[in-house]
Amino acid sequence: IRKAGFSTSARQLKDINSVTVIGAGLMGSGIVQVAAQSNYKVTMVDTTDAALKNGQSIIAKSIKRVAKKKFGEENTAEQQAFIDKALSNITVTTDAPSAVGATDLVVEAIVENIDVKQALFKALDQAAPADAIFASNTSSLPITAIADATSAERQKRFAGLHFFNPVPAMKLVEIVRTEGLQDEVYDALATFAKNTGKTPVECKDTPGFIVNRLLVPYMMEAFRILDRGDAKAKDIDVAMKLGAGMPMGPLELADFVGLDTMKFIIDGWAKEGKIEEALVTPSKTLNNLVEQGQLGRKSGKGVYDYS
Ligand code: CAA
Ligand code: NAD
Repeated sequence: IRKAGFSTSARQLKDINSVTVIGAGLMGSGIVQVAAQSNYKVTMVDTTDAALKNGQSIIAKSIKRVAKKKFGEENTAEQQAFIDKALSNITVTTDAPSAVGATDLVVEAIVENIDVKQALFKALDQAAPADAIFASNTSSLPITAIADATSAERQKRFAGLHFFNPVPAMKLVEIVRTEGLQDEVYDALATFAKNTGKTPVECKDTPGFIVNRLLVPYMMEAFRILDRGDAKAKDIDVAMKLGAGMPMGPLELADFVGLDTMKFIIDGWAKEGKIEEALVTPSKTLNNLVEQGQLGRKSGKGVYDYS
């Protein structure tokens, strides 16, 4: 029995031990970090060395903040030992099939596109052990549709495992229970989430699950206020921070999430046709920004300029 870094609960070794995270972007790097901090062996996978470097640099910055907070500003030796231990749990590769060869859990955090996700899982299904658990961190796509690309047996071990941005700071994980999901898989994922210091909540495989079903329509309406010229960006954000107690305004948050991801979510929902039309009405402002490559904080410019 080992102690998880962030929680006092003990973890059985026969549970999930080795984790493979596919995607080294905003979310993937965060999931790698919290798992590594909690003593899991983690492999971080992306398609290029540059993308892996980007993930490693996000982790390097974030883990320093976590270590400072955990041990106090003065205790630099303890901070460094914590950082070294966590980083020693991480390996990186661009070879996804070989990375999952002996893994217990695959967490996918790649681009929000069903075809790309299905192609990835189809390939991984062949390469991973039969009892490995597959999970997607998708914000908006049906888990059942992604899992369709895998065998019937794998589909019983396939769930949504939805973390929130920034992963090291946000305490929630939504676990999406598909119809055929085995209880032991749900339990293993809930244990994994708790061991990484998060609180799991359960939900069905419905558009946006819980958080995004409520949050994304609200953020989109902020873009439509901009489209209509009813208020300026800064005023919308100040209004929601000071008037509704939000830690970030809706447009600031959209920049933080990534405007490409926002557009993938809303266009996907419109296509699926399961959410009221008014809620998925596209925004000109959002579409124009994405077209210009202004994707938010991660690209240096979005609704606001971060350069
Ligand atoms: N890495 C590690 N720790 C971090 C961090 C990071 N990247 N970002 C913030 N933190 C920690 C800080 O160490 C700090 O901890 P303490 O308060 O305990 O000292 C805490 O988080 C707060 O950070 P700051 O004081 O620096 O800044 P802040 O008070 O402005 O908070 C924030 C930053 C936590 C990001 C806050 O602004 C916030 O909660 N924003 C909203 C985030 C949100 O709504 N996320 C969900 C997006 S939607 C989504 O993720 C789903 C989807 O599918 C699209
Ligand atoms: P991102 O753009 O920051 O990173 C995506 C990464 O995936 C990139 O590094 C890219 O190179 C990599 N990638 C793309 N195709 C790949 C493939 N076939 N194999 C391996 N790597 C591949 O995106 P993100 O914000 O980290 O989002 C990732 C997923 O998490 C999406 O499904 C998104 O909807 C979801 N999500 C995002 C947020 C958020 O706030 N940004 C929050 C929760 C969930």
